[in-house]
Amino acid sequence: MQIVRGKKIETLYDAAQIARRNEELAAQIAAGPTKDLLVIAVLKGSFIFAADLTRALHAAGLAPEVEFITLSSYGSGTVSQGVKVIKDIDSDVHGRDILLIDDILESGRTLTYAKELMYERGARNVTIAVLLDKREKRKTDLEADYVGFECPDHFVVGYGMDVAYAFRELPFVGVVTGDAEEAVPAKV
Ligand code: IMP
Ligand code: MG
Repeated sequence: MQIVRGKKIETLYDAAQIARRNEELAAQIAAGPTKDLLVIAVLKGSFIFAADLTRALHAAGLAPEVEFITLSSYGSGTVSQGVKVIKDIDSDVHGRDILLIDDILESGRTLTYAKELMYERGARNVTIAVLLDKREKRKTDLEADYVGFECPDHFVVGYGMDVAYAFRELPFVGVVTGDAEEAVPAKV
């Protein structure tokens, strides 16, 4: 357990576990479609995972190009939800193998949109790598091709993921479990 910003954070996956898993994922990715490979990190939550996984891809013998896309979902409750591009990639994806990297696959709406967008633009093949899969929350039939860890239905932070812009800097994935108790002053 760590205390950050006055909150107690329990570790779900530590830095060493994540590093080992990234190496395994990179080996799996290297065995898949990698023609003129373009890695696209879905910002913001994936930035640390994408950085580490991309370096693991190099160690696994790949030489991908790297791009970034910022997507956001809109709508809530009974209003049908959609996804829009906030900041697009610059590269042409035509005829290329694309690896979309995201932090968490939850409903699947964000990555379904991104995958369809890349196929519409003429990508040869689109695969998906996510650090965490929240399978119970799925609202689409999307599956990731490469999954770091199955994630229990908790709101997680760290390793790029935030709650209200906080905790992205943590080197591990954790769950906020409550407020840290006030330190009791020693009696004199
Ligand atoms: P969806 O699959 O379209 O529902 O989108 C999942 C996105 O929601 C992820 O890429 C995250 O950005 C965000 N998200 C979902 N669950 C969490 C969480 O537990 N912590 C932080 N972000 C989350
Ligand atoms: Mg995200």
